[in-house]
Amino acid sequence: MHKKLNHLKFYLKFFNLLLSVMTILFISFEQSYAAGDTVIVYYSRTGKSEVVAKAIADTMSADIIQINDTRGRTGICGFILAAYDSQMEHYTQIEPAAIDFSKYKNVYLVSPIWNWKISVPIRTLLHTANFQGIKMAMVTTANIDIKKYENFGDEAPFIKKFLRDYLRDNRQGMLNLAKSSKADIIGHFHIATEGLSGEQIEAATAAKMTKSLAAISCRSMTERQ
Ligand SMILES: Cc1cc2nc3c(=O)[nH]c(=O)nc-3n(C[C@H](O)[C@H](O)[C@H](O)COP(=O)(O)O)c2cc1C
Repeated sequence: MHKKLNHLKFYLKFFNLLLSVMTILFISFEQSYAAGDTVIVYYSRTGKSEVVAKAIADTMSADIIQINDTRGRTGICGFILAAYDSQMEHYTQIEPAAIDFSKYKNVYLVSPIWNWKISVPIRTLLHTANFQGIKMAMVTTANIDIKKYENFGDEAPFIKKFLRDYLRDNRQGMLNLAKSSKADIIGHFHIATEGLSGEQIEAATAAKMTKSLAAISCRSMTERQ
């Protein structure tokens, strides 16, 4: 009986601790993501990144801005042109051509991946916009998971190791590009969209958001200490 009571006390203490941690995370999240502080900026060629961007905007009650590419990217010709421009790391003309980010503290930048590089319109935005003093979370979408080969060790077959290193390097390249925009990069999450319906992409986004917000809240708490 005494032992059972001790167990119960332990579980109650643990539950209280859990509640306190969750409250701190929530308050911290509320402070760093007050309504009006956050904007979701996205480009989407076929609508998948748009689903992700809208799901994030709904979660955060944030503003949302769509970037358009003045170059035609539809159909097979658009696909080939997009692949070529991305491979050559070209820029394009985007609309809106200039966005004033000074009224925001946080930006979620949502982009599809083209040839394991950031899409050309978002590359252009990173090149032209002033993100100084802004916390940026990068969100990418692609057919497959960017970390698909991450767990292969050096004993794995050559092709798996090659893909692991190739995806790793390209991911780092995208983050470096984002850093070069002077933004403070606070996180990156990726949604694999192949074969998923809109609802499934929304659900995958919600799951990643929960994880990423907890990580971001932890980080902003550490920064405040
Ligand atoms: C030119 C081009 C290159 C692409 N390259 C890749 C790639 O390297 N890896 C991948 O998994 N998906 C690749 N994709 C697929 C898209 O990244 C994926 O379908 C994305 O979710 C589409 O987003 P959107 O509908 O917002 O444009 C590519 C798509 C295009 C148009």
